[in-house]
Amino acid sequence: MKRLTLPQLKQLKQQGEKIAMLTAYDASFAILLELAGVDVLLVGDSLGMVIQGQESTIAVNIEDIIYHCKNVVRGSQRSFIIADMPFITYATPNQALHNAARLMREGGAHMVKLEGGSFLKETIYQLSTYGIPVCAHLGLLPQSIYQLGSYQVQGKDQISADRIYEDAVTLEQAGADMLILECVSAVLGKKITQALEIPVISCGAGPECDGQVLVLYDMLGITQGKTPRFNYNFLTNKGSVLDSVKSYVHAVKNKQFPSSAQSY
Ligand code: KIV
Repeated sequence: MKRLTLPQLKQLKQQGEKIAMLTAYDASFAILLELAGVDVLLVGDSLGMVIQGQESTIAVNIEDIIYHCKNVVRGSQRSFIIADMPFITYATPNQALHNAARLMREGGAHMVKLEGGSFLKETIYQLSTYGIPVCAHLGLLPQSIYQLGSYQVQGKDQISADRIYEDAVTLEQAGADMLILECVSAVLGKKITQALEIPVISCGAGPECDGQVLVLYDMLGITQGKTPRFNYNFLTNKGSVLDSVKSYVHAVKNKQFPSSAQSY
């Protein structure tokens, strides 16, 4: 079985076919998610919370991501795999280059993801110049949680919405190949998706983006306590985990998820 490539993912956007993405942290789930038809597996630093039981993603380090990424790569054959760059592992272009190379060489990742706006343009340019595919991440930035104070919708007023839009354009120009847009209005999600040529993946950015991503443990209802409004428990009333993930893929591909109930 051949792996999905970045040009193929970009083509899905051009063809108007939605990209189904989920987080994954181990080989068993990677096998199952792939069987269910998920296109992209994200080894997210959300593993700090859902696997390690940490309060935030801050404590996750590069070794953690490499370890989980290796396991996900071993369990998958077809998926395109993105690895998160942990907190302060990309503070300078050279530090980013060094750590992104580790995620690809040791972890086996096909793309790296980093959180932040236009201040990352040199870093993204450098990674891209050296042949490293980059996924930018705008909107709610979980690595900035202690600055933000809480996980809440971003870009609520016109000035901050415009800033997110301009950041998205700048990062695409710098060489980003994909963008995850977290917790912003569906209107902003649509505007950015229409403006960019690269695939824009919604994590609470409405139904008009080119694809959707959720944290696996949230969409299976494993996460205890309150999950974000943009989450939906796909396990309810389904016979198995496999069927639940199949139903997520079906809902994403057929534009049934997210509905207005999971949008801002
Ligand atoms: O770490 C993660 O799982 C993420 C997603 C929430 C997009 O970045």
